[in-house]
Amino acid sequence: MKNRILVFFSFFLFIFHIPSIYSNPKKITVLGTGYVGLVSGACFADFGNQVICADIDKQKIEQLQSFYIPIYEPMLDEIVIRNAKKGNLSFTSDIDNAIQSSDIIFIAVGTPMNEQTGDADLRALKGAIEFIARNLIEYKVIVIKSTVPPGTCAWVEKFLAEECGIEPEKFSIVSCPEFLREGSAIYDFLNPDRIIIGSHSSEAFNQIYQIHLPLKEKNVPIINTTLGAAELIKYVTNSFLALKISFINEIANFCDAIGVDVKTIAYALGLDKRISPLFLNPGPGFGGSCFPKDVAALIKNAEKNNVDLQTLVAALKANEKQKEKPFEKLKKQFNNNISDKTIAILGLAFKANTDDIRYSPSIRLIELLKEHNVTIKAYDPEAMKNMQKIFPDIYYGTSVDDTIKNSDAIVVMTDWNEFKNLNWNYIKNEMHENSVIIDARNILDGQELKQLGFKYDAIGRAFLNSYKYKRAGCFLYNYAMCL
Ligand code: UDX
Repeated sequence: MKNRILVFFSFFLFIFHIPSIYSNPKKITVLGTGYVGLVSGACFADFGNQVICADIDKQKIEQLQSFYIPIYEPMLDEIVIRNAKKGNLSFTSDIDNAIQSSDIIFIAVGTPMNEQTGDADLRALKGAIEFIARNLIEYKVIVIKSTVPPGTCAWVEKFLAEECGIEPEKFSIVSCPEFLREGSAIYDFLNPDRIIIGSHSSEAFNQIYQIHLPLKEKNVPIINTTLGAAELIKYVTNSFLALKISFINEIANFCDAIGVDVKTIAYALGLDKRISPLFLNPGPGFGGSCFPKDVAALIKNAEKNNVDLQTLVAALKANEKQKEKPFEKLKKQFNNNISDKTIAILGLAFKANTDDIRYSPSIRLIELLKEHNVTIKAYDPEAMKNMQKIFPDIYYGTSVDDTIKNSDAIVVMTDWNEFKNLNWNYIKNEMHENSVIIDARNILDGQELKQLGFKYDAIGRAFLNSYKYKRAGCFLYNYAMCL
């Protein structure tokens, strides 16, 4: 009987073209078409909502309207183009009209670090709020997805009510931070560990809860909390991950000093369920548009409240030192006389699967090499055009082969898959005598490279050069790793 009613009801809805209650599409505008705004807009469109992505950058909007995606993010072009063609997703630089056309306004503009003060630069956010203030004719839910210091949403509420004279019943503010990693942003949006919705309006919470229902059906926890807690959860998450990376980087440096393999240490550490194996890969230091700025902003925000986050201050300091490790190791391999050498850098992006070089450790490496009159050749599958804006005068290779030819050393700085299965026997013959490999991501087989005659060093793997290791062979090491 129940099924018959359901079938009739669905038929009724279909005939009268009443939108299905099961999809309950919302009208959403996303302000900001960077990787957060574009990914969020495209995915909400994919959930069946009507989404407008708006940006003041007319050129970027024209590119999007002609289906050119101006950022490198795997799978983004497919989901954007599919939904744009379906009519679920559109792009405009007419911000006013975009705001008036929707019930839910997401703010996904950049909040970069103020290099002088370490504070989050909220100018773009304020610009978005001023646009919204001009267009709050009827009730709207304003969702701040940009990473903003705790207290920002409360400031927005006050600004709209007191500075702009908007009646409180015309808007609700929601904090809905994102946890998207560059290079896997689509996956992370569709498979979040949790969704955070900060608000003090049940109506607003319900609206934002509704648009996340497709994820709720995958049993993703949805946390209903306050505005301040939601803002802080984002900073605390990024800061803890950054702290974890600085911790393993320092342990790796200690492993180098005592001839222990950091891979074994990190493996055993990660087996402790309280720690988890993720974000325990030592490297040249963390970069990107988030960790450095978010840790600095949290430290600054705490300082303003007379709290000294010493662990995070130490994490940032350790990170800046770590960025010099690849150069130090390289110099040591040439007995501190590196000038007139030709150095090939493989990897410029701050991590694999992105073209983003913001705060990339490769920037620090190039700066140091340039101070020592070194010939630099660089290659990255995606990030070279961005690095050329900073260092136009170094050689950018057309391939790995072109870049390593006639070099004295290779420094692997980004964990691109392309660098994980190179033909080192061939490479050895293309490089100068006594060639050096600095594997700043621990992605190469150090033992194989040493057997081929390379001088090899990595991060926390100096044990490979120790006599004891050679005598004991690698049997025990490999056996331990196979356990
Ligand atoms: C980060 C957060 O992960 C994401 O949740 C947030 O929304 C934005 O900031 P992202 O900066 O894109 O994402 O990259 P992530 O994968 O977190 O790596 C950050 C940096 O840490 C990179 O430089 C990466 O190479 C480095 N890293 C990461 C390590 O050095 N070791 C690790 O084990 C993991």
